Amino acid sequence: MAKEIYVKKARIIGTGSYLPEKVLNNFDLEKMVDTTNDWILARTGIEERRIAADNESTSDLATKAAQRALEMAGVTPEEIDLIVMGTITGDYPWPATACIVQNNLGAKNAYAYDLSAACSGFVYALSSASDFLLAGRGKKALVIGAETLSRIVDWTDRNTCVLFGDGAGAVVLEAQEGESGILSCHMHSDGSYLDLLYQPGFGSKNPVSVQGIEDRSSFLKMQGNEVFKVAVRSLTEVSHEALKANDIKVKDLSLFIPHQANRRILEATAKRLKLQDEQCYINVNKYGNTSGATIPVAMDEAYRQGLLKEGGLVLLSAFGGGFTWGSVLLRW
Ligand code: ACO
Repeated sequence: MAKEIYVKKARIIGTGSYLPEKVLNNFDLEKMVDTTNDWILARTGIEERRIAADNESTSDLATKAAQRALEMAGVTPEEIDLIVMGTITGDYPWPATACIVQNNLGAKNAYAYDLSAACSGFVYALSSASDFLLAGRGKKALVIGAETLSRIVDWTDRNTCVLFGDGAGAVVLEAQEGESGILSCHMHSDGSYLDLLYQPGFGSKNPVSVQGIEDRSSFLKMQGNEVFKVAVRSLTEVSHEALKANDIKVKDLSLFIPHQANRRILEATAKRLKLQDEQCYINVNKYGNTSGATIPVAMDEAYRQGLLKEGGLVLLSAFGGGFTWGSVLLRW
């Protein structure tokens, strides 16, 4: 009998997530800016979001999510060779928050770095870690998406502050032979869209200044309408790209886990892809947009709910500031 020969793939062997305890709902926001629960629900589908406590930073959220992923995988921190963290709200401008997480975990054999791709941060990080493992640069990696967007949002700007939240998700990745694992990664960027979604202040272009804080020009800025259109188009295209590259039909997908920006973007993308409701995982109503954390948080929830079964095809698609966008197709 012919022996099946499998090439090595990077496989997710554990997932974890952590959301801060504090809940900020739409009625709380009604007291902070000129908005209503009805407007937020109708335009975004968001009901509430989590906000980090004053003594919690991105590394704290990331460490808890990573500990849960390691526990599920049955892997010790010392076994991790590499930590890649997608974040735009690290503890400090430098050094990398991944190094702080490495120390918190006691992952003393790992090299660690952050990756800045905004809401695509986790899929970029997953793609990078997968490449490193397949190149033989380690056996096990920890991939994290973690954000405290509440620290860079302008809480006086109703156009943006209602959309975002804090959270962290993590996966343990191992290079294994077999059918399961990452089948493809497709990443894209287009820097010409900078002005539509970015944080103008606190970098080398516009360093920290009293004026930047007082006139609110340093905080996150977004032109929502324009972002919406490009997001739907890019998420659809990059999802098709993954399916085509693997000769897989939409109906064969077990679960589509997109970046949770808002319900209307997700529904418009799902409609264009002709996905059934039960094929899409949506939790943006509970957490809002947690940028690089949305996909690993959703994946952890879906796995713990029994929605990710061995052999099932799972598509992760993300879009974010940069612009950056990408997809990862995997067999669970
Ligand atoms: N409450 C009440 N009214 C509001 C609010 C609010 N929170 N925010 C904006 N408005 C008002 C505007 O001022 C405007 O009023 P006007 O007509 O008097 O000028 C009106 O609502 C309509 O504003 P639009 O921006 O046209 O509203 P739109 O239907 O586009 O919805 C939204 C805004 C929800 C931001 C939408 O554009 C969107 O979802 N964009 C995608 C942005 C996104 O998700 N970004 C996240 C980062 S990128 C990513 O993760 C993919």
